[in-house]
Amino acid sequence: MDKATTFPIPLSGYEIEGLTGIDAPRLVALYRACSDYIVLERGQPPDAASVDEEFENFPPNRTEADKFVFGLKTADGEFVGLLACDRDYPRAGCWWISLLMIDKACRGRGLARALCDGFFIWLKSQHVQRVELGVLVENKQALRFWQVRGFEPIRIAGPVSIGAKQHMIQVFGRSL
Ligand SMILES: CC(C)(COP(=O)(O)OP(=O)(O)OC[C@H]1O[C@@H](n2cnc3c(N)ncnc32)[C@H](O)[C@@H]1OP(=O)(O)O)[C@@H](O)C(=O)NCCC(=O)NCCS
Repeated sequence: MDKATTFPIPLSGYEIEGLTGIDAPRLVALYRACSDYIVLERGQPPDAASVDEEFENFPPNRTEADKFVFGLKTADGEFVGLLACDRDYPRAGCWWISLLMIDKACRGRGLARALCDGFFIWLKSQHVQRVELGVLVENKQALRFWQVRGFEPIRIAGPVSIGAKQHMIQVFGRSL
């Protein structure tokens, strides 16, 4: 599976682009448009290095080859959302979502729902059986978002240091 992989989403006027580290500068505006979340996560606003980190941070025993970053674009090429994940983590057949975020100005319109629906249909077509992820316990909206999508709590991890902050993480999982 190459990094330019893409998948359809059930929403007209938007498309998905598979991204690599060389695309990081194209995502800086989106990170700024999600600065509320970056501040919640790291205690400081995003900069160019925050975007690079998305492509350079891997879970234990995983590499760049297992990292997939998908950008959600409008028809005129503006990034309004991002989905980053790690293949076969924490075990084969399970993908780990490391980040889902939507431009603050575009939230509440069903973009994240459509992005996840399309992504999960595509994962199933690739014979992936399960998805897991971690949500910052203080991110009440995200806890609700994933529970509505059928994710079940597995365990609480932490405390984990991210930037200037310490977090407890709610780990969720869902079979596809
Ligand atoms: C969580 C997030 C991705 C949701 O994106 P979104 O495009 O606004 O979500 P959608 O419009 O697809 O809405 C999804 C659901 O959440 C609900 N929702 C959306 N915004 C909401 C809000 N402000 N308050 C309450 N519910 C809300 C919708 O009603 C919808 O519910 P449904 O599926 O039962 O119909 C977005 O708020 C975001 O980027 N937050 C910052 C980053 C973040 O927290 N990411 C998650 C980290 S794991």
